Amino acid sequence: MTVRSVVCGVGHYLPERVVPNAEFEAIVETSDEWIRSRTGIETRHFAAEGQTTSDLAIRAAQAALDAGGFTPADIDAVVVATSTPDLTFPSTATMVQAGLGMAQGFAFDLQAVCAGFVYALTTADALIVAGRARRVLVIGAETFSRLLDWNDRATCVLFGDGAGALVLEAQEGTGTTADRGILSADLHSDGRFRDILYADGGPSTGETGHVRMHGREVFRHAVEKLAQTAHTALEQAGLGPQDIDWIVPHQANLRIIAATAQRMQVPMERVILTVAEHGNTSAASIPLALSIGVARGQIRPGDLVVTEAIGGGLAWGSVVLRW
Ligand code: ACO
Repeated sequence: MTVRSVVCGVGHYLPERVVPNAEFEAIVETSDEWIRSRTGIETRHFAAEGQTTSDLAIRAAQAALDAGGFTPADIDAVVVATSTPDLTFPSTATMVQAGLGMAQGFAFDLQAVCAGFVYALTTADALIVAGRARRVLVIGAETFSRLLDWNDRATCVLFGDGAGALVLEAQEGTGTTADRGILSADLHSDGRFRDILYADGGPSTGETGHVRMHGREVFRHAVEKLAQTAHTALEQAGLGPQDIDWIVPHQANLRIIAATAQRMQVPMERVILTVAEHGNTSAASIPLALSIGVARGQIRPGDLVVTEAIGGGLAWGSVVLRW
């Protein structure tokens, strides 16, 4: 018997405040035209004052539970991918656990920046396949607006806040690629590149810090590494580009997404895009895009979905799953 981790519920939450590119024209030397043409971003959501990452995560988790017909009592584990936890500790995941009214199971955070959700999916799948948990809430949630330097036009226009969540459930599969659930995964990191994208704060500095980035370098690595990791994950499953129904990429930049799709030989009609409305929500971007792809009627049960992401570390990876 093959155990598969199958998506049985998906949901998301976006803070109410929508911030169009034009708002940045009053803060830094930039323009709506520059931001649109270089990144594809038109608007992003920013959390309200006092609204934390766990607040967003709880709303997304509740939506995913409702979509799957579950209650918090059905969940064995909560994994939150985030680089913007409410506090240094305890984990945002335990705050979500408490917020949902869960007194059972275990909860922990996972930090792989923009690749966090791909890492979290892979970790949750390993817990399920090893028999450590039967149902796992996998959440990507961020309030990146709190890490932005409002004097740095090259970074402050790129990011947004939000959360997305999935319920993964152990189900019996046949061991073939016709099974629903996670079929393969490919993860990488290379700390030699830690200086091209990082936040210059943390417990060692006494401050939260701000995002620092060498945009061109990140761009170059992203285009090269994303297609490669997606290819490896597909190959591991015994599948190829022709089998893909949807690429659900990390939504950092439309030009990175398009260049990766081209390298993967997949037309843009088969790519889920939310970057225009959300900007880069780091670990939240893939579950947000999955949830919106389902809500739009694009992703349907049985579809082959390839997710791919890269971020600070560098850390990158890809998960192939049948919806
Ligand atoms: N408005 C106007 N001008 C700007 C802005 C802005 N918001 N930001 C930068 N510029 C200027 C720069 O100052 C520079 O001016 P200069 O030539 O006078 O020095 C000029 O634009 C070109 O700057 P570059 O950084 O070379 O511009 P580039 O075309 O590379 O675009 C961008 C910048 C959009 C950040 C791009 O490098 C990129 O998308 N990189 C990927 C980074 C990314 O997406 N990071 C997100 C986190 S990682 C991830 O999720 C993958």
